[in-house]
Amino acid sequence: MQDLDPYGKPIQDFTAGLYELYGNLRAVAPVWRSPRTGYWLVSGYEAVTALLKEPGLSSDLYKFFPAEKTVASTALRTSQENWMSMQDEPRHSHLRRDFLELCSPARVNLLESYILERAEILSAPLRVKGEMEFVGDLVVPLVISLLAHWLGVDQERMQDFNYAAQRTAGHLPPDADGNSPGFKAAAILLDVFASKLSSDHKITQEGAVQLSTREQVDNLCLLVFAAFETLVNFLPNALLEILKHPEQREYFCAASPGGREAAIDELLRYCGSVLDIPRVVQQDFELEALPGFIFKRGDYMLLMLAAANRDPLQFSEPDKLDLTRANARHLALGSGAHYCIGSHLSKLLSRLLLGYMLESFPNLSFDSERVKYIPSYGLRGLFYLYLRA
Ligand code: HEM
Repeated sequence: MQDLDPYGKPIQDFTAGLYELYGNLRAVAPVWRSPRTGYWLVSGYEAVTALLKEPGLSSDLYKFFPAEKTVASTALRTSQENWMSMQDEPRHSHLRRDFLELCSPARVNLLESYILERAEILSAPLRVKGEMEFVGDLVVPLVISLLAHWLGVDQERMQDFNYAAQRTAGHLPPDADGNSPGFKAAAILLDVFASKLSSDHKITQEGAVQLSTREQVDNLCLLVFAAFETLVNFLPNALLEILKHPEQREYFCAASPGGREAAIDELLRYCGSVLDIPRVVQQDFELEALPGFIFKRGDYMLLMLAAANRDPLQFSEPDKLDLTRANARHLALGSGAHYCIGSHLSKLLSRLLLGYMLESFPNLSFDSERVKYIPSYGLRGLFYLYLRA
């Protein structure tokens, strides 16, 4: 049984055998407590869906974490005390409410022409030289400039923002001082947003109880942490899979905007970038949907979204990419109260960028010799993707 734990494999084996390892575990034990770590690993769709709505689970991962093990002195940890993603109700909704308008379809749709303009500028090497690396030379600068434009980062802070946003990626090696690059990233982002808010930025919705400036700054910082890495990993995954499946590519190119939206959902199901999300049990409970399992206060849990998204009990032929799949009720963006607040931005950007690339470069192909996945237990993404026009 010990062997069932995908997280017990060396990172390279985990990354290479991801969906097979998930499938082995899910088929035998969709809810399982790993004897190696004591963590609950939840890989079945029904169980993950039920647990995402369970109030007995907390997103405040530090709740039962021994004080001496936290890195409370860093700007990042202090900021996380206000991140909506790490709070439970009612504080979670109080913080989230202030950002709903900023992330709404009406507001995000205004970014459409900006995205298309940037895609055109950044894809110039493909037009001129006939080849380019997609991740570092197109997606990273596109996502950074889009986030800066959307969040109103001052032009003179762009260099800092650019440097910090790139350091939010979790797979980077530690800095020379042994700290995670994210620590420095948080300190810079907090400073960028603090000076922004003290000048002209106002995000509070009418009628909402106003957040403190500190809460606003901390959650703007969260948006960058939550958006950069997820997008920079998902967009190349999605383009790679479309290029690997010529019939799906044909379908995507012919589809209406509505058909393309549904296609993006299928791509999120099939190759979403967030593999799992953690929770901690805040009070003992047993789920009706999962009789026999008693979850105990203080237990840690990984809700394995990408495993649930390939569950044959929920999706027919789950290992097949089928952009015509209707109602793909995937979990790639979570579900319940913490459902991804950036979902609309993610889907709009994905639909526009993939559409732009495939329409502008009808012979687009990739170098299969140079596809390399980032070794990570939590995220699925590519180091690079070399394209030819
Ligand atoms: C393809 C890209 C993305 C993926 C796969 C993704 C995935 C997710 C998932 C799985 C969750 C749920 C976390 C949980 O329940 O603990 C989540 C929440 C969140 N996401 Fe995303 N995300 C993406 C893009 C974005 C973007 C672009 C933004 C910012 C604009 C963003 C901001 C957030 C925030 C702030 C939360 C926490 C919401 C809350 O706690 O209420 N995400 N995301």
